[in-house]
Amino acid sequence: MSNTDQYDVASIRNDFPILGEKIHGKPLVYLDNAASSQHPAQVINAVKELYESGYSNIHRGVHQLSQDATKAYENGRSAVRGFINADCMHEVVFTSGTTESINLVAQSYARPRLQKGDEILITHMEHHSNIVPWQIVCEQTGAELKVVPISDRGELEMDRFAELLNERTALVSVTQVSNALGTVNPVAEIIEAAHALGVPVLVDGAQAVPHIPVDVQALDCDFYAFSGHKLYGPTGIGVLYGKEKLLNAMPPYQGGGDMILSVSFDGTTYNTLPYKFEAGTPNIAGVVGLGAAIEYVQKTGLGAIAAHEYGLLEYATSELKQIDGLRIIGEADHKAGLISFVLDQVHPHDIGTMLDAEGVAIRTGHHCAQPVMERYKIPATARASFGMYNTLQEIDVLVEAIHKTIGMFS
Ligand code: ALA
Repeated sequence: MSNTDQYDVASIRNDFPILGEKIHGKPLVYLDNAASSQHPAQVINAVKELYESGYSNIHRGVHQLSQDATKAYENGRSAVRGFINADCMHEVVFTSGTTESINLVAQSYARPRLQKGDEILITHMEHHSNIVPWQIVCEQTGAELKVVPISDRGELEMDRFAELLNERTALVSVTQVSNALGTVNPVAEIIEAAHALGVPVLVDGAQAVPHIPVDVQALDCDFYAFSGHKLYGPTGIGVLYGKEKLLNAMPPYQGGGDMILSVSFDGTTYNTLPYKFEAGTPNIAGVVGLGAAIEYVQKTGLGAIAAHEYGLLEYATSELKQIDGLRIIGEADHKAGLISFVLDQVHPHDIGTMLDAEGVAIRTGHHCAQPVMERYKIPATARASFGMYNTLQEIDVLVEAIHKTIGMFS
């Protein structure tokens, strides 16, 4: 508990109105942060204030409200730039989420370059959103998808990665933190090895940015994707970071308003970065909310959040391991704050339902990572995932609820 002593979790919790809710008459214990985290009043108010007094369309109006909304939107981009330490604002493209960011790279970067015989290298622990876009682009181009296997403990087999990376590899796409196992992957090492062969790397940071300080320049990744809604921000907003040189060389992903400089029936001139990739009226309130979420997280500090969540992970792991018939899926040496587990004789969906009756919200299922389930020969897991506002007492409630579940089913 020592490394969480200085952390003012009570004051953080006070900022999140939903944490005061009761579920089935019990205090809410929200442990489904890997699916979507909750929102502090600062984020809710930023969105509310925009709609109440500062909203209009952006980049399109000379009137005051449009100017104000444009400024708020671009302030959000500036917040993202600082948060991931991108070199410049125009390397930050707003998308609807990690999924769209990865699809954008698959269609706009990879598709025009891929030829039959080329390979895309991913890993066995990817979320479907980092598998299916590559399968689609492989079907479109005749390229092949290669997969780095994972060990029983849930770590990448790095010797196999080294073997699979070769002169046919056109791109590596890897998650920084597994949403199904919690594993933190050695992405810096992966990027260095890929770059030694001139291969660009996309990092799926959806599960990383709420838990780990990320510096895209230090990592030297070519693309980095994440979502707002796992970072205490709104849904429907995400980010694609890309190196300027790569983004400039890519054709637009979608056509429409704001992504052009001029349009005639003879042809269209595309806008400069990042607008070339932001066709149509964007999610203005989403960007404003994301900016507020980043400001909120930075106020506490990702280092302090990571230490707090690590304390929760260690405590929960040791408590869960003492439960007879409970097996943790994913025991990598380096994990972020989530635990996937199965119980002898109780289906994960039943665990989820029983825990819900105790006010404990977890996710159950395949977590959009069916190949992980197949790897461990299980249909699904129950997954408790921690956020900056969770407490050791909440872990005790989880453990108690699991004991009750086992009692009901035995
Ligand atoms: N990708 C999200 C999860 O892991 C939805 O639950």
